[in-house]
Amino acid sequence: MIDDIRRIQAEAANQIAGAASLDELATLERDLVGKGSELTGFKKQMGSLDHEARREVGAALNRAREVLAAAVAERREVLEGQAAAERATAERLDLTEVRAGRDAGHLHLVTQAIEELEDVFVGLGFTVSEGPEVEDDWHNFTALNFGTYHPARDMQDTFFVALGEPKEVVMRTHTSPVQVRTMEERQPPIYSVMPGRVYRNEATDATHLAVFHQIEGLVIDRGITFGHLAGTIDRFTKAYFGEGFSSRLRPSYFPFTEPSAEFDIQRPDGTWLELGGCGMVHPNVLRNGGIDPEEFSGFAFGFGIDRLVATRHGVTDLRELTGTDVRFLEQF
Ligand code: DAH
Repeated sequence: MIDDIRRIQAEAANQIAGAASLDELATLERDLVGKGSELTGFKKQMGSLDHEARREVGAALNRAREVLAAAVAERREVLEGQAAAERATAERLDLTEVRAGRDAGHLHLVTQAIEELEDVFVGLGFTVSEGPEVEDDWHNFTALNFGTYHPARDMQDTFFVALGEPKEVVMRTHTSPVQVRTMEERQPPIYSVMPGRVYRNEATDATHLAVFHQIEGLVIDRGITFGHLAGTIDRFTKAYFGEGFSSRLRPSYFPFTEPSAEFDIQRPDGTWLELGGCGMVHPNVLRNGGIDPEEFSGFAFGFGIDRLVATRHGVTDLRELTGTDVRFLEQF
């Protein structure tokens, strides 16, 4: 009897190890160790054995059950691993796949505008620069000649990051810090535009976003004058909006430019649109960027992209630009 049990155990172990699928393994488990199995049958015959023989047969049966249960568990683990790998392969998504035709998707309206603006400025001889969205106080404010008590540093306008000294790290409130980084990194001549995302601690509504986009321009060279600034703004206006558009400058104030101006564009129908700010780079800012104001001068400008895009495409609520509604996004 014990020899029979050992033989059955060995054969069963072989079959279990060779199970090709989880289903097959479940069937084998039922047939080889389940209620109706040959091994369970021995248990029923044990009643007719004497005490000593019953003990030995019982022990052999227990041993067989343990060994086979372990074999089933081991095989199950292997087969489950294979099944998971097969599932992963079958469900794999190729995120780089490009779908052909209309459904392939397209760049967001704001991204399209950034690329068009870059193209126009590259056409005028500018390079494109970038800077970090998480900035330090130096680049976002101090180097740009913001006094310690300038209201723009107030909690209302700025998102502070809980890093470093209190109020030392901010989400940049404008793209102007990239001016400073550009000056720190290289010497003039500099002809560069800097598009990017900016952050203001403001309630969001139809005409305000807390996260929006600006493009900054910086020109530093020998002998740069306000005339170059006005000419560049006007050349840009015509290249981007069309030859029927013109521009004007109005006196204004920014800590980082002197003199400073707002610039507006005039549409062919005669109406005006306020676009952004500009001016001659303040000598303090040049010095903070490591540039000698006795040798070089320059101008800067900056304007928001989202409102411009909204006006151009008749979008009445800026929040549409940050949404995921494909019925809106598909139109552009
Ligand atoms: N940084 C300003 C803002 O966010 C815009 C600006 C004004 C940029 C004048 C300039 C500039 O470069 O010269 O409101």
